[in-house]
Amino acid sequence: MAVITGGASGIGNACAQLLAAAGARVVVADRNEAAARAVAEAVGGIALTLDVGDEHSVDTVVAAVLSQCGVPQVLVNSAGVLQRTLPPEQLSLREWDFVARIDLRGTYLCCARFGAAMAERGSGAIVNIASVAGMGSGPLHSYGPAKAGVINLTQCLAAEWGPRGVRVNAVSPGFTQTPALEKGITTRTLSSDLLASNAAMGRVIEAAEIASAVAFLASTAASAITGVNLPVDAGYLVATPWAAYGGLRHC
Ligand code: NAI
Repeated sequence: MAVITGGASGIGNACAQLLAAAGARVVVADRNEAAARAVAEAVGGIALTLDVGDEHSVDTVVAAVLSQCGVPQVLVNSAGVLQRTLPPEQLSLREWDFVARIDLRGTYLCCARFGAAMAERGSGAIVNIASVAGMGSGPLHSYGPAKAGVINLTQCLAAEWGPRGVRVNAVSPGFTQTPALEKGITTRTLSSDLLASNAAMGRVIEAAEIASAVAFLASTAASAITGVNLPVDAGYLVATPWAAYGGLRHC
């Protein structure tokens, strides 16, 4: 059984589809109740309403999952919000907190609660959705540090729970075609041409391509892999330093 936070949309939705197709019973846990229900219906799973930033909400969902389905084999933490590109002079502390509360604190809370139950049982796999934004600098002064925190949290928990059979890994997507990215493009914060041309492969990524990496890390095919952060970025990280030499972008 697999719990997917943020499973109602984008990358989480793609993970729900793929894990269900692979035979897992899927719990779609999302703050968007109607969308979670639609995805759960489509994959024959269960929908639960969840705000990952709220301790009470996480505890309620954990209790419901444990009583209805038992301890999950897999937890995918995909719930997250993107951030507007703003300099610190214009980024309110309220917005900074909002992003960090969901992207870092929310990921920690879900890991802590579900991971504890997995560790007690002696098995489980957690995959956290981080970001290439957490692997270098960018104009995202809350989102970037929050995702860097997710990568470090993944390493800390992998060491903590390795002795008790729980693997914890991260996937760091590059720019991925999802409703969240689409919103950034339509509100003109982001340009789809620029996003594509900065990747070595000259394109953005499909949500299903992120889900493939998640499914691999969650599966027994990755039984000796823990504490890693796997970028799935169409070559964004390897291509961006070439700009200093006038190379690539895009050819
Ligand atoms: P999305 O907006 O399509 O899906 C995010 C889902 O998370 C939505 O269903 C939303 O309702 C849910 N959610 C948001 N806040 C929540 C909360 N407090 N509690 C529970 N659910 C909540 O976004 P997308 O693009 O699929 O993003 C998924 C993850 O991938 C996020 O963590 C994001 O930071 C990460 N990511 C996305 C990239 C992209 O280019 N789309 C690139 C790198 C990372």
